[in-house]
Amino acid sequence: MASNFNIVEEIKSRCNIVDVVGRQVALKKTGYNHKGLCPFHNEKTPSFVVSEDKQIFTCFGCGATGDVIEFTKRYHNLDFQGALEKLAEECGLELQNTGFGAEGKKAQLYEINRETASFYHKRFSMEPNSAAAYMRSRELGPSVLKKFGIGYADAEWQSLFDYLSSKGYDRKLLLSLGLVSESGGKIYDKFRDRVVFPIISTSKKVIGFGGRTIGNGTPKYLNSQESPIFQKKNSLYGLNLTREDINREDCAILVEGYMDVISLYQYGIRNVSASLGTALTESQAMMLKRYTDNVILAYDADEAGQAAALRGMDILYAAGCNVKILQIPGGKDPDEYIKENGKEAFSALIKQALPFMDYKLSNIKKQVDLNTTAGNVFFLKEAARAMKCISPVEAETYIKKVASETGISEGAFRLEVFGSGFVTVPKNWENTEGRRKGGIDRSSLLELHLIRLMLLRSSYVPLIEPYKDFFETVSCYRIYEIIRSLYKPDEEIDLKQLQDSLDEESRAVLAHTLETVHIANRDKQVFEECVSHIRTIKKGKREEELIKILSILDDEKDSEKILELSKELMDIQRERYKGARNEL
Ligand code: UTP
Ligand code: MN
Repeated sequence: MASNFNIVEEIKSRCNIVDVVGRQVALKKTGYNHKGLCPFHNEKTPSFVVSEDKQIFTCFGCGATGDVIEFTKRYHNLDFQGALEKLAEECGLELQNTGFGAEGKKAQLYEINRETASFYHKRFSMEPNSAAAYMRSRELGPSVLKKFGIGYADAEWQSLFDYLSSKGYDRKLLLSLGLVSESGGKIYDKFRDRVVFPIISTSKKVIGFGGRTIGNGTPKYLNSQESPIFQKKNSLYGLNLTREDINREDCAILVEGYMDVISLYQYGIRNVSASLGTALTESQAMMLKRYTDNVILAYDADEAGQAAALRGMDILYAAGCNVKILQIPGGKDPDEYIKENGKEAFSALIKQALPFMDYKLSNIKKQVDLNTTAGNVFFLKEAARAMKCISPVEAETYIKKVASETGISEGAFRLEVFGSGFVTVPKNWENTEGRRKGGIDRSSLLELHLIRLMLLRSSYVPLIEPYKDFFETVSCYRIYEIIRSLYKPDEEIDLKQLQDSLDEESRAVLAHTLETVHIANRDKQVFEECVSHIRTIKKGKREEELIKILSILDDEKDSEKILELSKELMDIQRERYKGARNEL
């Protein structure tokens, strides 16, 4: 058994921090490093840097820093041992027994799949054969078929089995990959008389296959069974070829099927991927988020497709994606539509894709007759339910919109959405904000004063908006968000409505603020003090950030930058020193 030290080093050498972080945070390569939004604090512009070279992450905003183990600890809220176990599992290392058994077996499975893919692809390329003819009849050209490595499994019972056996591969492994099945003591190929679609991971490994009947047999598609190297919930078809396009376009179009991916790709719409008939999973959403936050669902127009879209968008939204729904006219799927109408027409559909809340609302509207009371009530309830998963500010926009479109009273609707005093905070809202949890004891005087100011005079609401990041506790931020959503120029904030829209903890913070923070007519002075305090905090943060950046920069390559930043740092420190002296 290897010593603990060895295990730690082994894990660090196997788990590339860029991959591990990249599974949770969308990273973009910038120069030597990768950059993204910090998962440990709330920010809009990325200051979270991962260095592949040094195998560390650093956030210039909140100061979080460390190696791959530290990241795993913090991100998944684990202790050191827990983080080691998680990483060990991900990289196929057994903690008790650090032999290379599991990993070696996996490597062999990948190899078998690669052999299989090339076997089928070679057969496909040896025309004439029915698979090639079929794909031609679907108007797919040779170059795209080659690009996707499309294959042909002939109608014999043991073509693949014979081939792989001749290469010396153990039948147990072939069975575990589901490439062959055993029945009545006989082995036969799983894919027979089918077009074969290799499923390839973003690290370019063949992890599984899909096979379509040539013609009208059933089932229409067969997919590889789950295996140590293939988990459907972790794979997205086509992403190996399209992730760079997705990154470049900063948008992913998610479709249902193999054929949709290939067809759109051939027509030049390349930022596509497919979830392969299964309901979209959280882990697929996180995979997409490595390349973009913007996802357009282009599912089939049939009922199953639309139901899948409805489920998928909640998952994507919860993962922090901006989701839109593309609607295809005439009950077609993306492949049929683009074939009939061309790229421009499909691009137009992309432009018209509806933000997911608009889509949900229009969907609900379709189910009811708004001229009847029952229809109104149903709509109100369903729409409110749909809206509970978005932030109060977003909800407010829709409340206004829905009220004006339907004639349902804004007040009634708001009450229904926010309920009688509890705002359901969506998962991603809390996650991405990354604020401090806790009530009165965790809130700062700054936060409480800012809240008090807005309640004293609503004209402070827009003045305070630029500083909303300084509401650092969840409770205060919620109070701020509701105040912001209730704000109307020239009207004071309706305290009752505010209280009614808050959860218990935030309501307690609000009561505490009203009781303990007294501003009277010193509001201007208090506001200025708040702003000046914020400036001091910002400078302090910048100082920390500068120290970190300076420690990462390269003495030779970045000498100019170092000079510039050192000067800025000195200025900040000098000013602080002066400030401290003046106070004496
Ligand atoms: P579709 O039935 O929409 O297939 O299923 P498609 O992509 O439009 O295929 P063509 O155009 O008829 O050739 C969508 C996806 O659902 C999965 C497959 O991944 C398919 O691409 N599926 C479908 C199965 O796994 N098994 C099936 O029997 C059918
Ligand atoms: Mn189709």
